[in-house]
Amino acid sequence: MNVNGHPYRTIWLKPGDERIVQVINQVRLPHIFEITDLASVEDACHAIRDMTVRGAGLIGASAAYGMYLASLEAPESGFEDALQCAGEALKATRPTAANLAWAVNRMLGAMGTGTSHSERRAIARREAIAIADEDADHCRRIGVHAMPLISAIALRKPRQAVNILTHCNAGWLAFVDVGSATAPIYAAHDAGIPVHVWVDETRPRNQGASLTAWELGQHGVPHTLIADNAGGHLMQHGLVDMVITGADRVTGNGDVANKIGTYLKALAAHDNRIPMYVALPSSTFDFGLRDGVNSIPIEERDGAELRYVAGVTEQGDIASVRICPQATPARNWGFDVTPARLITQLICERGICDATQDGILSLFPERR
Ligand code: MRU
Repeated sequence: MNVNGHPYRTIWLKPGDERIVQVINQVRLPHIFEITDLASVEDACHAIRDMTVRGAGLIGASAAYGMYLASLEAPESGFEDALQCAGEALKATRPTAANLAWAVNRMLGAMGTGTSHSERRAIARREAIAIADEDADHCRRIGVHAMPLISAIALRKPRQAVNILTHCNAGWLAFVDVGSATAPIYAAHDAGIPVHVWVDETRPRNQGASLTAWELGQHGVPHTLIADNAGGHLMQHGLVDMVITGADRVTGNGDVANKIGTYLKALAAHDNRIPMYVALPSSTFDFGLRDGVNSIPIEERDGAELRYVAGVTEQGDIASVRICPQATPARNWGFDVTPARLITQLICERGICDATQDGILSLFPERR
């Protein structure tokens, strides 16, 4: 997608020095657009943990490039052990998004087919690039499949914008390009269908306010920032036509782990008979799980993320301020699980299906 008119992805190999991986530093957005170098697997782990890179798809791609960096670092003696170790370190950075372990395992499997260290390094480079390219392609295809859902609503309300509510950032910043929840929105906007997006601020890290608002603005998509708790009120007043969110892990029966607060949006959408769609590439499925609430690991992050808010002052300085009494304790769960029964349909690169075991298997028959 474009940033100030220039096309970018969220992760790539540094031109002229392919021992370095470059990423857009998402901790600095929307105030500063900065590229960060990752030169080691330790850098990759740190970038995932501190959310320099974030979002399920990009976490997966970053882990893949992290494994490529690990292959460059690994000593000739103990090469295999070093790769296994790097894989474990990457997997331990953040627990909820399925894409992370999926990418590490895919990299290890691919490298395992090489017969020499140099061949394994070449495979690692190729496979990381392939994972990134696939991620972008899958998101694009999600847009193609889901745009008709938006155009069908547009037909029912001529000359008015289709109002779409989204939570957190499942945009191109959360993937390698295009995004999952945003793919149909960009496709509709580019096709001339009037759309307007309600952007949940998404406390405590404010990915909606900082990232979704920024990327929609860069693409010229009309949008409005709303407080996290406003969605139900807007739905009751007919101001939301559909909800589209992303996902960090989806079970084989369609339960969805996504950014904390998604469950409440789904309840409100259900109560108001508003369709609730979840867009995800296949790398986000955890086909073996059946009970999302009791089996998906939910990341708990530092309470400081709740107690402090970062922003830019009128003078242009980035600052962090505390918003509660000094001694107030805080707990900070990063995700929640929306039961499948509250989800209208899932949108994947293979098409659209019901959020049920049968629905998912109709798109992924090889998982039967
Ligand atoms: O904590 P984050 O920012 O990595 O959370 C991920 C998300 O942005 C959302 O949960 C998103 O909807 C799914 S990621 C495509």
